[in-house]
Amino acid sequence: MPQDNMKIIVVEDYNEMSRKAAEILIKKVQEKQNAVLGLATGSTPVGLYEELIKDHQTTGTSYKDIHTVNLDEYIGLPKEDKNSYYTFMCEHLFNHIGIPAEHTHIPNGETKDFLEECDRYENIIESLGQVDLQILGIGSNGHIGFNEPGSSFTGKTHIIDLKESTRQANARFFESIDEVPKQAITMGVGTIMKSKEILLLASGTAKAEAIHGTIHGEITEELPASILQTHPNVTLIVDKDAYSLCE
Ligand code: PGA
Repeated sequence: MPQDNMKIIVVEDYNEMSRKAAEILIKKVQEKQNAVLGLATGSTPVGLYEELIKDHQTTGTSYKDIHTVNLDEYIGLPKEDKNSYYTFMCEHLFNHIGIPAEHTHIPNGETKDFLEECDRYENIIESLGQVDLQILGIGSNGHIGFNEPGSSFTGKTHIIDLKESTRQANARFFESIDEVPKQAITMGVGTIMKSKEILLLASGTAKAEAIHGTIHGEITEELPASILQTHPNVTLIVDKDAYSLCE
């Protein structure tokens, strides 16, 4: 059985998932104008970000005192590469909501000293205080951030070898699978779990098994998202397809 603290909102489709997530995030930003937001990349949050931009343009919700920390970044892609998460965030969100660039943080995937970069990034998150609201997608293998199955539940920001299944899932954005980086820097599961509130989004049947395990499965490092059962304030917004194995 899911833990009582895990709120589950089942919606019709991707668009409704995006609108509901935007409602929650905008409410947070309006209530706490200097909130720290944890942000994700991938196909899942694109619709949410579109809703945030629309709202910013029509109602003027302000992000000028908001700070953001992103979950992860590929190792080895220049910042300006079209597939870097830096470029993704600028194009899909940051360039459109009036947030000061110096308030946005993404691990540096181009550094020469990765261990130092992991420490630097973890320190940034700590110096901002707790993340008020962390947005998560989920991999079909249950990863959160790039914490692949087997990642420690207490991990801090670290370097991860991407699973072949993850590289294949992300190959759609690259010319070929050979161009998909083999490693990334990711917040650890332990880092993510320190967030005050977590909002996990999932859409589509490819996520159904991972969502079933996240809600009903054993809590195991083999399914990183299963640890969310122990978080005090987590909401899942899942569409019918992603929820299809839970009914
Ligand atoms: P997706 O990726 O949003 O592109 O499906 C999610 C993830 O791998 O965490």
